[in-house]
Amino acid sequence: MDKLVLSGGKKLNGEIRISGSKNAALPMMCAALLAKRPLELKNVPHLRDVTTMLSLLGQMGVEVTLDEQSSVVLDALNVNTLVAPYDLVKTMRASILVLGPLLARFGEAKVSLPGGCAIGQRPVDQHIKGLRALGARIVMGRGYIKATTKGLKGANVTMDVVSVTGTENLMMAATLAEGQTIIDNAAREPEVVDLARCLINMGAQIKGAGTKKIIVRGVNELSGTSYTVMSDRIETGTFLVAATMTGGKVRLINANVNTSKVIIDKLIQAGANLEMGNEVLSVNQNRRLNAISFCTAPFPNFPTDMQAQFMALNTVATGKSCIEENIFENRFMHVQELRRLGANITIKGNVALIEGVPKLEAAKVMATDLRASASLVLAGLVADGETTIDRIYHLDRGYERIEEKLGNLGARIKRTN
Ligand code: UD1
Repeated sequence: MDKLVLSGGKKLNGEIRISGSKNAALPMMCAALLAKRPLELKNVPHLRDVTTMLSLLGQMGVEVTLDEQSSVVLDALNVNTLVAPYDLVKTMRASILVLGPLLARFGEAKVSLPGGCAIGQRPVDQHIKGLRALGARIVMGRGYIKATTKGLKGANVTMDVVSVTGTENLMMAATLAEGQTIIDNAAREPEVVDLARCLINMGAQIKGAGTKKIIVRGVNELSGTSYTVMSDRIETGTFLVAATMTGGKVRLINANVNTSKVIIDKLIQAGANLEMGNEVLSVNQNRRLNAISFCTAPFPNFPTDMQAQFMALNTVATGKSCIEENIFENRFMHVQELRRLGANITIKGNVALIEGVPKLEAAKVMATDLRASASLVLAGLVADGETTIDRIYHLDRGYERIEEKLGNLGARIKRTN
């Protein structure tokens, strides 16, 4: 099993390119199932979750063409299997995103229930509720969701909780449903907006993406298109934290300032010296950051996917801070690992109280989930001595060549097994 070994204490310096967004690319890849013509996606990140999605689509009969850059062409003309098996779904919950498109185009789908997940229960009841409202017949059995329909029909759906992939699944299904669908209490995340733009380019009629109310008017069929995936705001945030924590001088290119605003604002509040240009973010940090408190909540509020990284920042910042996690009930697993590095953190329910320490000390730690792994890398970058992070396959799910990118900025980091 691969490990990362980091020698902390080096200020990051240089320029890196932010990759395409994982959470925007994955639903768009599923959107290819809606059309008989090829969908070309550009700026797709090279990640394990993307590879898993390609395997899933490939085994359904989607023809996949990759080029050396970051483009993927998906041709779903000859789909021959309408099943997403457990082996693939269990490694990546986003596989649930094939459900809406398969049902809408073929009237049938069988998708494994994603099951438990390290960061919390993560049910899919909202996906099911929404698709049922559109006229799908859905039964659960032997660990699978089996859905059939004689033709989806538009409906008004109010989501009980704000769900990103739930909104995406429903929006995709509604594009081919008869009549109008209104999704109320929809997720407003930029990735939902990017998916809507891609679908509109394919011929879908969607209004309101980015607001709480999305209106989809069904069309008979969608066509192919070529679409460039937005840049990854969580990768952007992670590198911004890395640069500021290490007191570095770093330029991020291909970053999107608008979608990363809440992250940037929090960093500025913490005392980060940041400059923003068009798709460029520059950090030139020469003083210690102040601890900052925040609560995670759906967009436009602070993203749960940046909580662990900001916790790492707070462990070495000046002062005390309080972080409230409101999206996933078990998303503090990095805390005990950060403590092994000398962090002073107390947990009370869904609140973490952090008191900044002047220095972290290197240790052996274990990655437990994707963003928790990122927080350990950040802590390792500033810890005294050599930190070894085990089980970094989590990191490979969502960060493109992270050790190479950090290495290019001067970090002393290497992968071993
Ligand atoms: C997506 C992101 C993930 C991010 C999360 C929250 C992708 C591929 N993943 O995950 O990186 O951390 O949004 O921003 O885009 N819920 C229900 N019932 C449902 C669905 C969700 O109760 O049917 C609850 C969840 O348990 C959670 C909350 O709603 O408490 C938000 O989850 P959701 O937005 O659905 O997360 P994902 O779409 O799985």
